Order: sequence, then structure tokens, then C-alpha cells
Amino acid sequence: MTSNVLITGAGRGIGLELARQYAADGWRVRATCRDTKGASALEGVYGDVLIHRLDVTEGVQVAALARDLKGEPIDLLINNAGMTGARDRSFGNLDYDIWEEVFRVNALAPVRVAEALVDLVAASERKLIVSISSRMGSIDANNDGGSYSYRSSKAALNAAMKSLSIDLAGREIMVVVFHPGWVRTDMGGKSASLSAKQSAEEMRAVIDRLTLSDSGRFLNYDGTDIPW
Ligand SMILES: NC(=O)c1ccc[n+]([C@@H]2O[C@H](COP(=O)([O-])OP(=O)(O)OC[C@H]3O[C@@H](n4cnc5c(N)ncnc54)[C@H](OP(=O)(O)O)[C@@H]3O)[C@@H](O)[C@H]2O)c1
Repeated sequence: MTSNVLITGAGRGIGLELARQYAADGWRVRATCRDTKGASALEGVYGDVLIHRLDVTEGVQVAALARDLKGEPIDLLINNAGMTGARDRSFGNLDYDIWEEVFRVNALAPVRVAEALVDLVAASERKLIVSISSRMGSIDANNDGGSYSYRSSKAALNAAMKSLSIDLAGREIMVVVFHPGWVRTDMGGKSASLSAKQSAEEMRAVIDRLTLSDSGRFLNYDGTDIPW
């Protein structure tokens, strides 16, 4: 039977590469992006790929997506869309509007998407919700300070997904968060250590092996644990 994956923010970067690899592997890919008109890279992906318009911060669009997908199980939901708040400023000069925007995208939206689609995940074979977080969200591993909006948004995402892993255990839904590595995308920049291809391949291999006992973990792209 064909497996279904839904990936948010799939127009570029890690999301696009995940879409490419799952499609090449024969999965049905529901790829979402904010601007379907500008989704030429996604349109070029070979395989069973359906593109949906979704700004993850727009509750109305999230609800419309859930209605569109009604009756179609989602084996794997990947909350990938994210932003850094690159305009984030240092302490003493913080921009609270940007902080709120980053929080809406990185922390609130993945929970909203999961809440809207959870019944479709529950109806699937695999029953897996993956959120792409960041090591920057680890409080324990924060040795450099700064990045107030990004770090706090990913820490909040981690906390929310941990709760979700507990709340959904009874429905046998697995919930994990990943650090994808430092990846050469628009966000990671050209000096990053991993290509999107390597990051996606390694995460996919780990995702393949996950069982319910892994639910609630904060995983590096290679499957090792990251301290909260
Ligand atoms: N690259 C790294 O080194 C790295 C490290 C740690 C964690 N991560 C995480 O990995 C994930 C993917 O990052 P990336 O490196 O692929 O970044 P990217 O190349 O900057 O891509 C970000 C993606 O998120 C989408 N997005 C942003 N805001 C959105 C919104 N409101 N609604 C829908 N989509 C939205 C973007 O869509 P548009 O094209 O419409 O802007 C784009 O598709 C993010 O969650 C990021 O925090 C990345």
C-alpha cells in the first residue's frame, strides 16, 4: 500500500529535499508551500506529488487543508516550515514583533497543523508526527547565548511536542523532534556542514526505524539524542 507524507514548507531547502526523496521512494507526497505560483522546484519533483497552498500561521488555511484531505490517511506528518528571525537583534535592542512572528511560525503553527490533521495521522499505518526543530532550541546545549527569538521558539516547539507525544500515546501516534544538522539551505548558509540531501537521507533512515518507544525524543539527524 502507498504511504502518504505531508511536508510543510516544501518549496525549498530541507522540505523540498524531503519531498524529492519520499516521492522518489514511491510515497504519495502532499507538499505544502506558501506560494504555489512560485513553486517551480516543487513542480519539477518527479513522482506522486500534490502541492497545496499553506501559510502555516493562517488558521483558515490549515482548516481548509484538513478539509481537502478528509478521508486520506497521513502516515507521516513533517512540520518543516520554519524561520530564524534573521533580523533578530541582540539584547538591548530586541525586536518583539519579529519575536512574535518567529513564535507563530516555529512554535504555534506545528501544533496547529498537528491538531488539524491528527485524525488523518491516526487513521494511517505509520502514525508519525515529526517536527523539524533545532539544536538551538536545546536549553542544555546553549553555550553561546543570543538568538532569543529562534532559540525560544524551538524550545517551545520541543516542549509542545513532548506534551503531544504523551497525549497521543493512547492513539499509538509517535511524536518526535529532529535537529536536521547544520544544512546548506537559505537558512543554514553556504558554509554549513551538510547538504540537504545528506540531512534528509539520514533523517529518513532514522524515521524508518522509529517505534512507539521512541516517541517523545529530541533526535539529532543521525538518530542520537539531543539534551533538552
Ligand atoms: N538549515 C539549517 O542549518 C537548519 C538547522 C536547524 C534547524 N533547521 C530547521 O529546518 C527547517 C527547514 O529549514 P531550511 O534550512 O530548509 O530553511 P529555508 O531554506 O529557509 O526554508 C524554510 C521553509 O519554511 C517555509 N516557511 C517559512 N515561514 C512559513 C510560513 N509562515 N508558512 C509556510 N511555510 C513557511 C519557507 O517557505 P517560503 O519559501 O514561502 O518562505 C521555506 O519553504 C526549519 O524549521 C528550520 O528551523 C534548519
